Amino acid sequence: MSIRYIEKIKQFVLETRSTSYQMKIDELGYLHHLYYGPKAGRRDLSYQYRTYDHGFSGNPYDMRHDRAFSLDSTPQEYTSFGVGDFRVTSIRASCSDGSRCAEFRYESHEIHDGKYAIPGLPSVYEGDDSAQTLIVTLLDTAANIRVRLYYGVLDELDVITRTAEIINAGSEIVWLRKACSVCLELPFGKWDMIHFHGRHCMERQAERVPLFHGIHTLSSGRGMSSHQHNPFVILCDHTATEDSGICYGMMLMYSGNHKTEIELDQFDSVRAVMGVSDDRFRWELSPGTSFHAPEVILTCADGLTQLSHRYHRVIRYNVCRGKYQLSERPVLVNNWEATYFDLNENKLVEMAGIAAELGIELFVMDDGWFKNRKDDNAGLGDWIPDSEKLPNGLDGLIAKVNDLGLKFGLWIEPEMVNEDSDLYRAHPDWALTAPNRLPMMSRNQLALDLSREEVHEYLYTVISGLLNKYHIEYIKWDFNRSLSDVYSHSTPSARQGEVTHRYYLSLYRLYERLTSAFPDVLFEGCAGGGGRFDAGMLYYNPQIWCSDNTDAIARLFIQYGTSFGYPVSAVGAHVSAVPNHQTGRVTPLSTRGTVAMSGTFGYELDLTKLSGDELAEIKEQIVRFKELQPLIQNGQYYRLSNSADHSHYVAWQFVSPDKYRSLLNIVVTNPLANSAPIHIRLKGLDSEAVYSVNGEFECDGAALMNAGYTFEQLTGDYPSRQLDIIRIR
Ligand code: DGJ
Repeated sequence: MSIRYIEKIKQFVLETRSTSYQMKIDELGYLHHLYYGPKAGRRDLSYQYRTYDHGFSGNPYDMRHDRAFSLDSTPQEYTSFGVGDFRVTSIRASCSDGSRCAEFRYESHEIHDGKYAIPGLPSVYEGDDSAQTLIVTLLDTAANIRVRLYYGVLDELDVITRTAEIINAGSEIVWLRKACSVCLELPFGKWDMIHFHGRHCMERQAERVPLFHGIHTLSSGRGMSSHQHNPFVILCDHTATEDSGICYGMMLMYSGNHKTEIELDQFDSVRAVMGVSDDRFRWELSPGTSFHAPEVILTCADGLTQLSHRYHRVIRYNVCRGKYQLSERPVLVNNWEATYFDLNENKLVEMAGIAAELGIELFVMDDGWFKNRKDDNAGLGDWIPDSEKLPNGLDGLIAKVNDLGLKFGLWIEPEMVNEDSDLYRAHPDWALTAPNRLPMMSRNQLALDLSREEVHEYLYTVISGLLNKYHIEYIKWDFNRSLSDVYSHSTPSARQGEVTHRYYLSLYRLYERLTSAFPDVLFEGCAGGGGRFDAGMLYYNPQIWCSDNTDAIARLFIQYGTSFGYPVSAVGAHVSAVPNHQTGRVTPLSTRGTVAMSGTFGYELDLTKLSGDELAEIKEQIVRFKELQPLIQNGQYYRLSNSADHSHYVAWQFVSPDKYRSLLNIVVTNPLANSAPIHIRLKGLDSEAVYSVNGEFECDGAALMNAGYTFEQLTGDYPSRQLDIIRIR
């Protein structure tokens, strides 16, 4: 049993394999947070909290004679608002009488076997034997707002999930202005924040900063989880390293606007709240209705590596689904950087013929295949094959690709529309545009208003139509602009603040319908690369195109940051041409292969333009990748360098679950003259075992991990090495 309620002291104890979480209902009914961290026994931990009279931190009315008690200094599971806790809040709302305050007190609780699900939203799943759910219901009787706090305890995974349901328990409308999924309090300690910021073509750059007094906000209001701020943050002990030190992870399973606020307060306590962004958010809660916040996946680990391993595992086994969840993904070639919009059947079949000879398994036709799509100014919305580029139709091309022994995959960008399209001409009101205002254009396209049911149905009809009619085994689902001018022409003016979240509810429902109806299709998410690289998308797409930046050196840093929260099996990575189309950099084919192999692996270049030597090397790369694929996809991933400390190389390692096989990768990003040797201590091996290192010598696991391995001098243009470490006894 992972969840206990100790009636005598009104205390909840949640336990996973190596962590404990405690909370307690006090005499007034407030739900105090007591502890989350490494196992700390089951006894009441409230002894840690001593209350003092703090000036300017007021007292609830019924505690007015005990000036030591204040909501402003009490750690809580979900905060009040407007009644004297002046820190960041979990929730804000306004009632029909104009009041904007509420404080929540315990009403009831339930404990169930199994993991709860969230209506309409993706969430971690787990069998009834391996998870338990606690629901604590809190109520404010003046505002008539009920909050149900959900805790999913996944014992073996060392994960606790949280969400909140906000219910209007009264008889008047309540306007919800903010509704976080979680409030996590760290009352003691010195913490650093690691977050993953970036931009298009440079996503998820890891940045570690000590918390300073004030509020740190990480958010996206772009209508997507975004290239700029991933909905994932780590709070770690100031001294934590990859190998040790308390680290908390908070990952929001959501693809739309989000916000995380982390406050280091006047008493050196940390409060972190995370959820749907409250910017431009306003949700009408009519009597009896509820709002479900998206899920947050929490873990507390010893060191950053353990934290990442927990997220990798939960995402692979409890978030991703379907036929390709755990199975090996096909090596693909995508024609985007080979042809851009200038594609035609002859060119594609020529590429596919070479791909088949090289051992590639899937041919993906990217943007440009549908009518009027000669560039990015027209065509989105009309998903009809271009009869000039594809004179034998889509089925003609697919038949030729299949005859070569390759699967066929198709790019779509269903959520978008160009003004120059039949769809827009017929339904201009289906686009998100504000009244009496010319919309902001981005890539000359508009976003469809997916909050409208007829748009949802249109997209289901179009996509299911393509998948029913043609033998398509893979879909790349793109999304190439941020949402602005968010206004739905079918929603009453007072409810426009609901549109972005309703868009995502509809998108998730669309994905659910399609992935259920077409379970054999591999879906790869994409948003101008990794603009929607989040756990919400991974529930439907087991892999996501990680970045539009295919430069191997830039990718090292993107994939490094991504690895903190997301498994290698989720990372779409391809070998592309040199000079690289984004950076102009020239890197060796071997280095490009090494970097792309730490992902789903594929090619994105014009195979018809390669030399015989390059084709031969690619053929070998594919044989090697297929042999390494089980290790790379299923193995534990170790970061062996820290991009903040190691300026001239990046190294990482895979270790198979049985520790029989390992692969060490290193890429020199800045060759140094007359430098100290690069020396690396390996991780995760069996210290008692003897390994062969590249077939060149034998070495004990303990020696490789403690004494380490020294590389020969690596100079030249971005050289890389892969070390094969195989257990021999
Ligand atoms: C952005 C994607 O990330 C690229 O890979 C490519 O599919 C283009 N869109 C096509 O427009």
